[in-house]
Amino acid sequence: MNQLETIKQNVIKCTKCDLYKTRTNSVPGKGNFQSDVIFVGEAPGRNEDKNGEPFVGAAGKKLSAALEGAGVSREDVYITNVVKCRPPNNRVPNTNERDTCKEYLKNEILIIKPKIICVLGNTAFNSVLGGSEITKFRGKLVRKDNQLYFLTIHPAATIYNQELISTLNEDIKKLFNLITELKNNKIVSIDIEYTS
Ligand code: URA
Ligand code: SF4
Repeated sequence: MNQLETIKQNVIKCTKCDLYKTRTNSVPGKGNFQSDVIFVGEAPGRNEDKNGEPFVGAAGKKLSAALEGAGVSREDVYITNVVKCRPPNNRVPNTNERDTCKEYLKNEILIIKPKIICVLGNTAFNSVLGGSEITKFRGKLVRKDNQLYFLTIHPAATIYNQELISTLNEDIKKLFNLITELKNNKIVSIDIEYTS
């Protein structure tokens, strides 16, 4: 079994935090293990809990559309969440749940070694980089401990807001332009340096 498959099996049977009691299915990350980018959301919603796959509901459609707009198919990338089980009533996962679950994300990153980690929305921004106010920092490229991160809004924020759809779509295009530049060994400019 490959290493990502091992994580997946561990997530499926995980009982490390109380969210296992109310979930229907755990939602392991999914996608291309050779992807240049990992997308990190908050936590599964109702559809994801039902299907056991990340971003398959309304927010997922927005993410897929943004990817298509950038000429990228969902299958080409790797998509995951900070927390792998649905919090009841879609509440924001608490600190204990995030801290308990974060080893899985850490290992997904270690295995895939993405050029850029794309942080989707405030919860992921806070969990992964300790940040807040994603609307202020979206569209920016961050470097921390030699890892690059790209910040954008959560796709769910675009569901009832047409203006934010173009924000998301433009950010995702910028993300893949940055990836192309990195692959061509061009020097990209870092917007924010985080020190740990
Ligand atoms: N929202 C998330 O943050 N993650 C999902 O997988 C679906 C919706
Ligand atoms: Fe385990 Fe994470 Fe699910 Fe909690 S949310 S039970 S830590 S997989």
